[in-house]
Amino acid sequence: MTNFNTQRLPTESFTQPETYHKIRLPVDQASTLIPDAYTSDDFFAIEKEKIFAKSWVAVGCLQQVSKKGDILVTEVAGRSIIVIRSNEDKLRAFYNVCRNRGSKLLKESCNIKSIRCPYHAWVYGLDGKCLGTPMFQKEKYVSKKKKFT
Ligand code: FES
Repeated sequence: MTNFNTQRLPTESFTQPETYHKIRLPVDQASTLIPDAYTSDDFFAIEKEKIFAKSWVAVGCLQQVSKKGDILVTEVAGRSIIVIRSNEDKLRAFYNVCRNRGSKLLKESCNIKSIRCPYHAWVYGLDGKCLGTPMFQKEKYVSKKKKFT
């Protein structure tokens, strides 16, 4: 019985051109893609970083973000992404991460007027601009000129 979880080639070979030599031959001589391409976790990790993280990827349909304030939460190459229909009727995509301490901003798709971070309540507009940092008052910042003793 075949064990589909067993990786057949060493991980290093996944990024070497020789590994794919046979799939580039004329059709009557070519072989299929290596089996690890379909079953290996290491192959998938490399694929995410080298292909999906660096190229355009379809993540949804226009109907999912048809109204102003519609937000589609999705994932590309292991990174959470939000696709937003802005108030100017433009589509924008951002990492689903707060610029303060990196908290995940939204768990699921929704329709909202602004995005409030669940951690320290920073607020972002649908254009990605930071609109407020309510838990950070100016007087709490330490002046660069102030000396510590
Ligand atoms: S992590 Fe978002 S406001 Fe602090």
